[in-house]
Amino acid sequence: MSRHPWWKDAVIYQVYPRSFCDSNGDGLGDIPGIISKLDYLKELGIDAIWLSPVFKSPQDDNGYDISDYQDIDPMFGTLADMDALIQEAKKRGIRIIMDLVLSHSSDEHRWFQAAKQSRDDPYHDFYIWRDGEPGTPPNDLQSAFGGSAWEWVPEVGQFYFHRFSKKQPDLNWENPKMRRALYAMIRWWADRGIGGFRLDVVDLFGKIPDQKILENGPKLHDYLREMRREAFTAENLVTVGEAWSATPAIARKYSNPDGSELSMVFQFEHIVLDQQPGGEKWDLAPLPLVQLKQVIRRWQKELEGTGWNSLFLENHDLPRIVSRWGDDGRYRVESAKMLAMLLFGLQGTPYIYQGQELGMTNARYPLEDYRDIETLGMHRQRKALGHSEEDILRSIHAKSRDNARTPMQWSGEKNGGFTTGTPWLKVNPNYPQINAEQQVGDPDSIFTFYQTLIRLRKTNPVFRDGTFRLLLADHEDIFAYTRTTDRAQLLIVCNFHGKQIENPLETAEKAIACNYSGESVPGKLRPYEARVYLR
Ligand code: GLC
Repeated sequence: MSRHPWWKDAVIYQVYPRSFCDSNGDGLGDIPGIISKLDYLKELGIDAIWLSPVFKSPQDDNGYDISDYQDIDPMFGTLADMDALIQEAKKRGIRIIMDLVLSHSSDEHRWFQAAKQSRDDPYHDFYIWRDGEPGTPPNDLQSAFGGSAWEWVPEVGQFYFHRFSKKQPDLNWENPKMRRALYAMIRWWADRGIGGFRLDVVDLFGKIPDQKILENGPKLHDYLREMRREAFTAENLVTVGEAWSATPAIARKYSNPDGSELSMVFQFEHIVLDQQPGGEKWDLAPLPLVQLKQVIRRWQKELEGTGWNSLFLENHDLPRIVSRWGDDGRYRVESAKMLAMLLFGLQGTPYIYQGQELGMTNARYPLEDYRDIETLGMHRQRKALGHSEEDILRSIHAKSRDNARTPMQWSGEKNGGFTTGTPWLKVNPNYPQINAEQQVGDPDSIFTFYQTLIRLRKTNPVFRDGTFRLLLADHEDIFAYTRTTDRAQLLIVCNFHGKQIENPLETAEKAIACNYSGESVPGKLRPYEARVYLR
């Protein structure tokens, strides 16, 4: 057996179930739909699927509001479908990673239903309650989707705390019974053959709202170590912690190689650079490339040998990377491949978000076509603050979470082959030009390029082990680095922009992969050109 855990060599693919594949024509993706596409994922070469939540949920936040952790929402299928997915994936060497939302539940969870009936109910203390007067919340903490984070419940004469929508009451991690109930649920899933868990907003578990401490509370890492001991007992589980607030020092705790907490951290420092300093993601700013390089260098160096990172550019909360940092017009194919190569050369576990492997792009819809609770909340708030409709829409087109949530584009057929019914969110009208059917088997497609990168990672340990060195740190257009072991070296050179430039790293060696076919231009890098060399 290899001395490396499997997930250090793995590539993980994120499926957003409601937008992946609809098997029954109701316009919503479902588990049988996912099963029908496992061969596609196998062909891509991935090792595991991170499945965004399919648990029972009123879908206030598209499943990130769970009303029963041990059942499947009927819109996605049944527990039997879930078992079939686990088995069918296993046959193809693919593990399933469930998305556990443990910082809060749905207000429709039976625990909360009981908790809000009476202060004496045993479940009352599963949530965070504070006394007060109606209309005067305990403090001014705001919910991430707009409005106060405190909601009054007349039956008990108290407020409960909700970091997200008021249909997402926060669980009280101080309560050992609550924690034990979660651990038992996790073991129940592991027994069904689940390969691992992604932990939603893990940095919020130890919150102390009274002191306005939300992230990184003093007991957070105690809870994680306890959870590791009591819940993640099955062998070979991968555990991934979503942590917007992680620094490299904190990440070393989460992903300590001694295995005392989680396998890896999923942090965002690199992906929030294109916003105005001190502003929100909606306050757009161009990407400062030199700063991006510094951030990536810091994470690579500071976790080397002491932690493990997730590598990603997209997920269900982020816009499409080719529209964001590439060029989704003329150089869509080149820039999507360049960004893929940049990412896949780094140390960590790469993630592909559904459609990224096709170079799917942001949607630019009129407001009435958006569904996301965060997007609509921001629109309401900014309207009230006097922002112009035009400005708000510009931010939505750039950053709305729905950009990534438009249905998967499988073919040139109606609705991109996603559904025979009416899709819950409009399919991006560019599906006749951008779809899986057209790209699988095409040697020049983005899909094939991802296949190549996955294969390269699997056959060359330097991708897993090599130490990182940034080259040309101050160059405004080139992102280049090496990864080195005592046996091999990778050199990755990416022209980040849409113009032809001088190549100070020109070499006579032959690249093992490049995003242009045919002869190179001597001494130059073409627009978005990316090359990887192995020596
Ligand atoms: C995470 C999820 C996001 C969700 C939020 C609340 O950030 O990725 O989609 O809205 O947590 O659960």
